[in-house]
Amino acid sequence: KPLAGKGVLITAGPTFEAIDPVRGTTNLSSGKMGFSLARAAREAGADVTLVAGPVHLDTPRGVRRIDVRSAQQMHDAVLPAAPLHDLFIATAAVADWRPASLSAHKIKKDGKKIAPTFELSENPDILAAVAALPDRPYCVGFAAESEKLEHHAREKLLRKRVPLIVGNLGPATFGRDDNALLLVDADGVRALPEDGSRCDKQELARALMQDIARRLPVRD
Ligand code: C5P
Repeated sequence: KPLAGKGVLITAGPTFEAIDPVRGTTNLSSGKMGFSLARAAREAGADVTLVAGPVHLDTPRGVRRIDVRSAQQMHDAVLPAAPLHDLFIATAAVADWRPASLSAHKIKKDGKKIAPTFELSENPDILAAVAALPDRPYCVGFAAESEKLEHHAREKLLRKRVPLIVGNLGPATFGRDDNALLLVDADGVRALPEDGSRCDKQELARALMQDIARRLPVRD
Protein backbone atom coordinates (compact mmCIF):
# COMPACT_ATOMS: atom_id res chain seq x y z
CA LYS A 1 0.00 0.00 0.00
CA PRO A 2 1.97 2.98 -1.29
CA LEU A 3 0.13 5.57 0.86
CA ALA A 4 0.14 3.65 4.17
CA GLY A 5 0.66 6.11 7.04
CA LYS A 6 0.02 9.16 4.82
CA GLY A 7 -2.70 11.77 5.33
CA VAL A 8 -4.50 12.90 2.17
CA LEU A 9 -6.83 15.91 1.98
CA ILE A 10 -9.08 16.27 -1.10
CA THR A 11 -11.60 18.91 -2.20
CA ALA A 12 -14.38 17.82 -4.54
CA GLY A 13 -17.51 18.99 -6.30
CA PRO A 14 -18.82 22.46 -7.07
CA THR A 15 -19.39 25.30 -4.65
CA PHE A 16 -22.70 27.14 -4.27
CA GLU A 17 -22.63 30.90 -3.88
CA ALA A 18 -25.83 32.28 -2.40
CA ILE A 19 -27.63 35.30 -3.86
CA ASP A 20 -30.57 35.23 -1.44
CA PRO A 21 -32.02 32.59 0.94
CA VAL A 22 -33.41 30.50 -1.94
CA ARG A 23 -31.09 31.18 -4.91
CA GLY A 24 -27.46 30.99 -5.85
CA THR A 25 -24.90 30.31 -8.57
CA THR A 26 -23.04 27.04 -9.03
CA ASN A 27 -21.47 24.91 -11.80
CA LEU A 28 -21.80 21.48 -13.38
CA SER A 29 -19.09 19.64 -11.43
CA SER A 30 -20.45 16.28 -10.21
CA GLY A 31 -17.67 15.56 -7.69
CA LYS A 32 -17.05 12.12 -9.25
CA MET A 33 -13.33 12.63 -9.92
CA GLY A 34 -12.63 13.86 -6.36
CA PHE A 35 -14.69 11.09 -4.76
CA SER A 36 -12.93 8.49 -6.98
CA LEU A 37 -9.58 9.90 -5.85
CA ALA A 38 -10.64 9.73 -2.19
CA ARG A 39 -11.60 6.06 -2.67
CA ALA A 40 -8.32 5.34 -4.48
CA ALA A 41 -6.26 7.06 -1.77
CA ARG A 42 -8.04 5.03 0.93
CA GLU A 43 -7.44 1.81 -1.03
CA ALA A 44 -3.77 2.79 -1.23
CA GLY A 45 -3.68 2.90 2.58
CA ALA A 46 -4.02 6.65 3.28
CA ASP A 47 -5.97 8.38 6.03
CA VAL A 48 -8.33 10.46 3.85
CA THR A 49 -10.28 13.68 4.53
CA LEU A 50 -12.71 14.74 1.80
CA VAL A 51 -14.07 18.29 1.81
CA ALA A 52 -17.13 18.17 -0.45
CA GLY A 53 -19.28 20.86 -1.99
CA PRO A 54 -22.97 20.10 -2.65
CA VAL A 55 -23.02 16.74 -4.51
CA HIS A 56 -25.22 13.66 -4.58
CA LEU A 57 -22.57 11.01 -3.97
CA ASP A 58 -22.05 8.42 -1.22
CA THR A 59 -19.01 8.84 1.00
CA PRO A 60 -16.33 6.27 0.04
CA ARG A 61 -15.87 3.66 2.77
CA GLY A 62 -13.35 4.65 5.46
CA VAL A 63 -13.13 8.29 4.30
CA ARG A 64 -13.75 11.25 6.67
CA ARG A 65 -16.11 13.70 4.94
CA ILE A 66 -16.72 17.40 5.68
CA ASP A 67 -19.65 18.93 3.76
CA VAL A 68 -19.47 22.61 2.79
CA ARG A 69 -21.46 24.85 0.48
CA SER A 70 -19.57 28.03 -0.46
CA ALA A 71 -15.96 28.62 -1.53
CA GLN A 72 -15.35 30.54 1.71
CA GLN A 73 -16.62 27.59 3.77
CA MET A 74 -14.40 25.22 1.75
CA HIS A 75 -11.42 27.53 2.37
CA ASP A 76 -12.16 27.69 6.11
CA ALA A 77 -12.41 23.89 6.35
CA VAL A 78 -9.26 23.22 4.30
CA LEU A 79 -6.72 25.76 5.57
CA PRO A 80 -6.42 24.58 9.20
CA ALA A 81 -6.53 20.90 8.10
CA ALA A 82 -3.91 21.17 5.34
CA PRO A 83 -0.71 21.17 7.48
CA LEU A 84 -1.93 17.97 9.20
CA HIS A 85 -1.82 16.10 5.86
CA ASP A 86 1.02 14.92 3.58
CA LEU A 87 -0.87 15.50 0.33
CA PHE A 88 -3.51 17.99 -0.78
CA ILE A 89 -5.43 17.37 -4.02
CA ALA A 90 -7.73 20.21 -5.15
CA THR A 91 -10.27 18.68 -7.53
CA ALA A 92 -13.15 21.00 -6.55
CA ALA A 93 -14.58 23.34 -9.18
CA VAL A 94 -14.50 26.31 -6.81
CA ALA A 95 -16.56 29.30 -7.96
CA ASP A 96 -14.19 32.11 -8.89
CA TRP A 97 -16.69 34.78 -7.79
CA ARG A 98 -19.57 35.16 -5.35
CA PRO A 99 -22.31 37.80 -5.17
CA ALA A 100 -20.77 40.73 -3.29
CA SER A 101 -23.69 40.95 -0.91
CA LEU A 102 -26.21 38.39 0.29
CA SER A 103 -29.82 39.53 0.36
CA ALA A 104 -31.40 38.65 3.73
CA HIS A 105 -34.76 38.03 2.05
CA LYS A 106 -35.86 36.55 -1.26
CA ILE A 107 -35.38 39.13 -4.02
CA LYS A 108 -38.84 39.90 -5.46
CA LYS A 109 -39.90 40.96 -8.93
CA ASP A 110 -40.81 44.64 -8.69
CA GLY A 111 -43.44 44.65 -11.43
CA LYS A 112 -41.41 47.05 -13.58
CA LYS A 113 -39.76 44.25 -15.57
CA ILE A 114 -36.29 45.42 -14.56
CA ALA A 115 -34.02 42.46 -13.87
CA PRO A 116 -31.69 42.82 -10.88
CA THR A 117 -27.93 43.07 -11.45
CA PHE A 118 -25.27 41.66 -9.14
CA GLU A 119 -21.82 42.82 -8.19
CA LEU A 120 -19.34 39.99 -7.73
CA SER A 121 -16.39 39.60 -5.36
CA GLU A 122 -13.48 37.24 -5.99
CA ASN A 123 -13.35 34.09 -3.85
CA PRO A 124 -10.16 33.04 -2.05
CA ASP A 125 -7.93 30.68 -4.07
CA ILE A 126 -7.83 27.65 -1.78
CA LEU A 127 -5.08 25.78 -3.65
CA ALA A 128 -2.79 28.83 -3.85
CA ALA A 129 -3.39 29.55 -0.15
CA VAL A 130 -2.43 25.99 0.86
CA ALA A 131 0.61 26.03 -1.46
CA ALA A 132 1.79 29.25 0.26
CA LEU A 133 1.71 27.74 3.79
CA PRO A 134 5.16 27.29 5.35
CA ASP A 135 4.20 23.75 6.47
CA ARG A 136 2.32 22.89 3.26
CA PRO A 137 1.59 19.35 2.14
CA TYR A 138 2.53 18.22 -1.40
CA CYS A 139 -0.03 20.08 -3.54
CA VAL A 140 -1.80 18.84 -6.68
CA GLY A 141 -4.20 21.04 -8.64
CA PHE A 142 -6.68 20.33 -11.41
CA ALA A 143 -7.32 22.35 -14.55
CA ALA A 144 -10.65 21.97 -16.34
CA GLU A 145 -10.28 23.72 -19.68
CA SER A 146 -12.16 23.82 -22.93
CA GLU A 147 -9.00 24.19 -25.09
CA LYS A 148 -5.18 24.46 -24.98
CA LEU A 149 -5.01 22.10 -22.00
CA GLU A 150 -1.24 21.88 -21.62
CA HIS A 151 -0.77 25.63 -22.01
CA HIS A 152 -3.37 26.51 -19.34
CA ALA A 153 -2.21 23.74 -17.00
CA ARG A 154 1.39 25.00 -17.17
CA GLU A 155 0.21 28.55 -16.48
CA LYS A 156 -1.60 27.30 -13.32
CA LEU A 157 1.49 25.35 -12.24
CA LEU A 158 3.45 28.63 -12.15
CA ARG A 159 0.69 30.94 -10.88
CA LYS A 160 -0.31 28.65 -7.99
CA ARG A 161 3.26 27.47 -7.29
CA VAL A 162 2.36 23.78 -7.11
CA PRO A 163 4.49 20.85 -8.34
CA LEU A 164 1.73 19.10 -10.32
CA ILE A 165 -1.37 20.13 -12.28
CA VAL A 166 -3.74 17.51 -13.68
CA GLY A 167 -5.49 18.80 -16.78
CA ASN A 168 -8.80 17.61 -18.20
CA LEU A 169 -11.22 18.99 -20.76
CA GLY A 170 -14.14 20.57 -18.87
CA PRO A 171 -17.10 19.82 -21.15
CA ALA A 172 -15.83 16.24 -21.62
CA THR A 173 -15.55 15.49 -17.89
CA PHE A 174 -18.26 17.36 -15.94
CA GLY A 175 -20.90 14.82 -14.88
CA ARG A 176 -19.39 11.95 -16.90
CA ASP A 177 -18.18 8.57 -15.63
CA ASP A 178 -15.07 8.55 -17.82
CA ASN A 179 -12.25 11.00 -18.40
CA ALA A 180 -8.75 11.51 -19.84
CA LEU A 181 -6.00 13.31 -17.91
CA LEU A 182 -2.82 15.20 -18.73
CA LEU A 183 -0.26 15.38 -15.92
CA VAL A 184 1.82 18.56 -16.22
CA ASP A 185 4.89 19.21 -14.06
CA ALA A 186 8.12 21.20 -14.36
CA ASP A 187 9.74 18.36 -16.36
CA GLY A 188 7.07 17.62 -18.96
CA VAL A 189 3.70 16.00 -19.56
CA ARG A 190 2.21 12.52 -19.21
CA ALA A 191 -1.18 11.40 -20.53
CA LEU A 192 -3.41 9.03 -18.53
CA PRO A 193 -4.42 6.66 -20.11
CA GLU A 194 -1.03 6.69 -21.84
CA ASP A 195 -2.52 5.97 -25.28
CA GLY A 196 -4.65 9.13 -25.07
CA SER A 197 -7.96 7.20 -24.89
CA ARG A 198 -10.69 7.69 -22.24
CA CYS A 199 -11.15 5.53 -19.18
CA ASP A 200 -13.49 5.04 -16.20
CA LYS A 201 -12.88 7.71 -13.52
CA GLN A 202 -12.29 5.16 -10.73
CA GLU A 203 -9.66 3.33 -12.78
CA LEU A 204 -8.04 6.66 -13.70
CA ALA A 205 -8.07 7.76 -10.06
CA ARG A 206 -6.16 4.60 -9.08
CA ALA A 207 -3.53 5.21 -11.77
CA LEU A 208 -3.21 8.88 -10.79
CA MET A 209 -2.87 8.00 -7.09
CA GLN A 210 -0.04 5.55 -7.92
CA ASP A 211 1.73 8.29 -9.90
CA ILE A 212 1.29 10.89 -7.12
CA ALA A 213 2.44 8.43 -4.42
CA ARG A 214 5.79 8.13 -6.24
CA ARG A 215 6.20 11.93 -6.13
CA LEU A 216 5.77 12.31 -2.36
CA PRO A 217 8.91 13.15 -0.42
CA VAL A 218 10.19 10.28 1.71
CA ARG A 219 9.96 11.17 5.41
CA ASP A 220 12.28 9.76 8.10
O1 C5P B 1 -7.99 29.04 -10.53
P1 C5P B 1 -8.38 27.94 -11.50
O2 C5P B 1 -9.83 27.62 -11.41
O3 C5P B 1 -7.89 28.26 -12.86
O4 C5P B 1 -7.57 26.64 -11.02
C1 C5P B 1 -8.12 25.35 -10.79
C2 C5P B 1 -7.45 24.68 -9.64
O5 C5P B 1 -7.41 25.54 -8.50
C3 C5P B 1 -8.23 23.45 -9.16
O6 C5P B 1 -7.32 22.57 -8.56
C4 C5P B 1 -9.18 24.05 -8.13
O7 C5P B 1 -9.65 23.09 -7.22
C5 C5P B 1 -8.32 25.08 -7.48
N1 C5P B 1 -9.03 26.28 -7.00
C6 C5P B 1 -9.12 26.54 -5.64
N2 C5P B 1 -9.74 27.69 -5.19
C7 C5P B 1 -10.28 28.56 -6.07
C8 C5P B 1 -10.20 28.32 -7.46
C9 C5P B 1 -9.58 27.16 -7.90
O8 C5P B 1 -8.63 25.73 -4.84
N3 C5P B 1 -10.89 29.66 -5.62
